[in-house]
Amino acid sequence: MHFLSVEDFSKAQIEEIFDIADDLKKNKAPISLKQGSIAVLLFEKPSTRTRISFEVAMAQLGGHYIYVDPRTTQLSRGENWADTAKVLSSYVDFIIARLYSHKDLNEMAKNSSVPVINALTEDEHPTQALADLYTIREKKGKLKGLKIAMFGDTANNTFNSLMIACTMMGMEVALIGPKGYLPSTRFVAKAKEYGIVKVYDDIEEGVEGADVIYTDTFVSMGEEHDSELRKKLFMPYQVNGTVLKMASPRAIVMHPLPAHRGEEITGEVLDGKQSVAFDQAKLKLLIEKAIILYIAGKEI
Ligand code: NVA
Repeated sequence: MHFLSVEDFSKAQIEEIFDIADDLKKNKAPISLKQGSIAVLLFEKPSTRTRISFEVAMAQLGGHYIYVDPRTTQLSRGENWADTAKVLSSYVDFIIARLYSHKDLNEMAKNSSVPVINALTEDEHPTQALADLYTIREKKGKLKGLKIAMFGDTANNTFNSLMIACTMMGMEVALIGPKGYLPSTRFVAKAKEYGIVKVYDDIEEGVEGADVIYTDTFVSMGEEHDSELRKKLFMPYQVNGTVLKMASPRAIVMHPLPAHRGEEITGEVLDGKQSVAFDQAKLKLLIEKAIILYIAGKEI
């Protein structure tokens, strides 16, 4: 089984993954990884958290990892994704890939004989979405019935996966960004099949009743050419002290990191009492272990 999109798992499967994570926290391993399992991490884009937490996850579960920069492989000389996937999957047990194009990831998955895990593409960041949900559940004790307000570039990969994941689990989603700038219609339509998604350009209206305030960079990897324009466009939607005053004092503030203090979020808010951004980062390791074990269990 592959994990390319957050929708590859049902609500029940996400709950099973969370149960595995709960067990791992108590040092119980419900499923174990085949001794000597190997993951190749094929990363076209930079990564700090996702790369290193997956590497640590494989090592701590008793497996191994190989990190590969595609520029050092024959991909850089024109070998295609399909052939690369056929060959890599004949050596290793998992392919964990961070690629620019989601189409390339699908092509790898189609041609791989082992599970492919999406470690971020331009369209989705599903492992982040599961770590985020697990963090919210830890902090709030539940997911169902909560409201999440997502700020800024609501059309990016993080938000695409997260809005679907949240609605699947019974949360309401408010997407708050500049008038005329629309979140990805395909993802909004999917999320609406599961639950409530509303789009706002008025911050006060959107943030009302929110239990979670979420933001991400204004300039995702690969969008640097538009950087100045994007910063100007999204700046009015910065998560700052004024936004926090409009929200409930019990609302938690989330960010997948890396953060750009003074752009999408102020340092005061990111480092403040309501922020759980560094808990999110920490929990990625646990959730990635749970995802690996869950998928490994399905492959037996
Ligand atoms: N939306 C961001 C997420 C980084 C983890 C990006 O794609 O750069």
